[in-house]
Amino acid sequence: MGSILIKTEIPGPKSKEIAKKRERYVASPMNPSLAPFYIKKGHGAVVEDVDGNRFLDFTGGWGCLIVGHTPERIVNAIKSQAEKYIHTDFTAIPYEPFAELAKMISERAPGDFEKQVAFFNGGAEAVENAVKIARGATKRKAIVVFDYAFHGRTLLTMTMTHRVMPYKYIFGPFASEVYRLPFPNPHYNNLKVGDFEQELKDTVYPEDVAAVVIEPVQGEGGFNVPPEGFLEEIRRVTEKYGILFVADEVQSGYGRTGKLLAIENWNVVPDLITLGKSIAAGLPLSAVVGNKKYFDALPKGSIGSTFGGNPVACAAGIEVLKMIEEENLLKRAIHLGEIIDKRFKEMKNKYPVIGETRGVGAMRAIEFVKDRKTWAPDSETASKVIQESLRNGVVLAGAGIHRNVIRLLIPLVMTDEQLNEGLDVIDRAIQAVTG
Ligand SMILES: Cc1ncc(COP(=O)(O)O)c(C=O)c1O
Repeated sequence: MGSILIKTEIPGPKSKEIAKKRERYVASPMNPSLAPFYIKKGHGAVVEDVDGNRFLDFTGGWGCLIVGHTPERIVNAIKSQAEKYIHTDFTAIPYEPFAELAKMISERAPGDFEKQVAFFNGGAEAVENAVKIARGATKRKAIVVFDYAFHGRTLLTMTMTHRVMPYKYIFGPFASEVYRLPFPNPHYNNLKVGDFEQELKDTVYPEDVAAVVIEPVQGEGGFNVPPEGFLEEIRRVTEKYGILFVADEVQSGYGRTGKLLAIENWNVVPDLITLGKSIAAGLPLSAVVGNKKYFDALPKGSIGSTFGGNPVACAAGIEVLKMIEEENLLKRAIHLGEIIDKRFKEMKNKYPVIGETRGVGAMRAIEFVKDRKTWAPDSETASKVIQESLRNGVVLAGAGIHRNVIRLLIPLVMTDEQLNEGLDVIDRAIQAVTG
């Protein structure tokens, strides 16, 4: 028997009842949700809605659930911490879980130098702080980002994010000193890896640049994998001009690619790394980890946040790292990724609407195009496949600047059977949608 169970129309009657409250009271720009149903409970890769339907969750709350829903050991760590103290603010009354998790992350981040960690609440806040640290340490102002990037929705990170609708819309004026360079993509530009230095120099005076910020594998932008040598070239050029290399691992980090940090798939050591999403199993926690000398360049008290590194979130974070290691989740990411890759390639052979399948480890995506020659994006098919899959029990996330990509953000605790069951649903959905 599979994990999926659909007993009512979706959304069912109880979900519809709750939706009335939402329509009336929840701020309308916060609509819609990916799923039209309301969750009752979740465990592992499965969520049950308030009407008793069961779905496979291939989104993990937009990539926050590498360890799955409600893993027992993490729930216990959360309960145990909450019973002792829930909040003090580390800068008011300090506590060990903050220091312990900082130690654990420092020890695991790449780089043969002393590292330190600062904690915040969400991914955008981590990116904002990485920029502040880079500016403070280099005494420079400019920040370089890339096409298709997503770094968040605050004023600065919205500026760093590429996509206009809906993220940037008319929310300007945008932050100054943010420069965007092309991300090599054979379908959209002819940029070669070796062009990066000239592109940089044509755009901004390199000695004015504090940091180049890049997602080692782009998330929201469509799971774009940098071409061979691109990250190494950025590292070479940033070193040449005294620019910090900031890897935004908010989405790619924490095991999804088969390494704890995606950047470890390349021969590159960043100066600063931002972490978020999965690092506390769904509790709000984010971090900047990096070379101690950059933190040391800043005045005391110059970065921080009231809730950042909350004790309950840190207790969960400690248990997440232990779980990834003790339950061999990195190996599992590679294994699940191989299954996905094989199945996606089979689908590509069957359906001309699939232009490309790509990814690293379990971080995998399908790109839909109207025509493999013109590479015209097919967002309509992507959207219909997501809807059809939902009706049949799989919650899927879209991606891509043109919204023509489906990305898998699966929990690494998913069984092979669950993965194949979900992939069967996707396969049948593409068949149904494309006729
Ligand atoms: C690479 C990357 N950076 C930053 C963010 C922003 O994180 P948050 O939504 O937690 O602010 C995201 C969110 O999707 C992301 O994928």
